[in-house]
Amino acid sequence: MKSVLFVDDEQSIRNAIERMYLERDDIRCLFAASGLEGLDILKREDVWVIVSDYMMPGMRGIEFLSKAKGIRPDTLRIMMTAFADLSIAIDAINKSEAYRFVTKPWINKELMDIVDEALMRYQLIKSLESNDETVYLSLAQTVELKDPYTKGHCDRVAKYAVKLAKAAGLNDAMIADIKHGSWLHDCGKIGVPETVLNSTGNLSVDDFETIMQHPRWGAEVARQARMSETVINIILYHHERFDGNGYPSGLAAGNIPIEARIVAIADVFDALYSDRPYRQAYDFDRTIEILTEMTEAHFDPQLMELFRYIAEEVRANG
Ligand SMILES: [Fe+2]
Repeated sequence: MKSVLFVDDEQSIRNAIERMYLERDDIRCLFAASGLEGLDILKREDVWVIVSDYMMPGMRGIEFLSKAKGIRPDTLRIMMTAFADLSIAIDAINKSEAYRFVTKPWINKELMDIVDEALMRYQLIKSLESNDETVYLSLAQTVELKDPYTKGHCDRVAKYAVKLAKAAGLNDAMIADIKHGSWLHDCGKIGVPETVLNSTGNLSVDDFETIMQHPRWGAEVARQARMSETVINIILYHHERFDGNGYPSGLAAGNIPIEARIVAIADVFDALYSDRPYRQAYDFDRTIEILTEMTEAHFDPQLMELFRYIAEEVRANG
């Protein structure tokens, strides 16, 4: 069960947080009045996220979080600090590698959102660390569930990308990573609200920015879970464009790792060739026509030449 440890020397703060979480029966809240007590809890409980006060008598928040890292390296650490202490706290927070900080007095919804995001991140890291294909695939399917129109998308992208990787002569280890990377390429969308993902109208600038964050967010988590460089590259660079106008890094041509160039083609092919919330699937000929028009700006032309044969095969055999 999702569990969060709150560490604060003030009883009134612990009470306020407890009240705030009364309605959330999906989260188990643990409380400690000092760093020492907090470390004790960490030794025996499976804690996903820690929220610690900065200024505490005895063991300070920074020391506590550093020691907490030694006990549970994957647990996400959030620092709470009074606004007046913020400037001295920032440096210390960076040193303790806290994931986020929250200023006191906090706004309930903001604190809960930050904790929820951290819980989600923890769950994702654990899944990625499992080294288990079935876990990867079910994770991809969880992302797809957020947007019913993408059902089966990740698996199809993997199928097309693997074919293309083979045609390009990549080795078996790379091909296995490309399969996993294709499944997981949109895992960063776990952090994007469904209302934004399923929007059929024009997105606000903020919403658009949220969506643009998914490659970075996903890659950061994959890195934390120590996934292979190939998988991380796919998650991070699958929205780069061959002409350098993609995101998040604006890499161009050969600077985009080949694994990401491969998945980019497979991803767009499947998006065009299947139904979307805002339009029906294109037929095969129109799909290829659009891909061809896009090639100069978006895709590696050599890979695209190879992909034509693969697309024909997909049309013939599904
Ligand atoms: Fe994506």
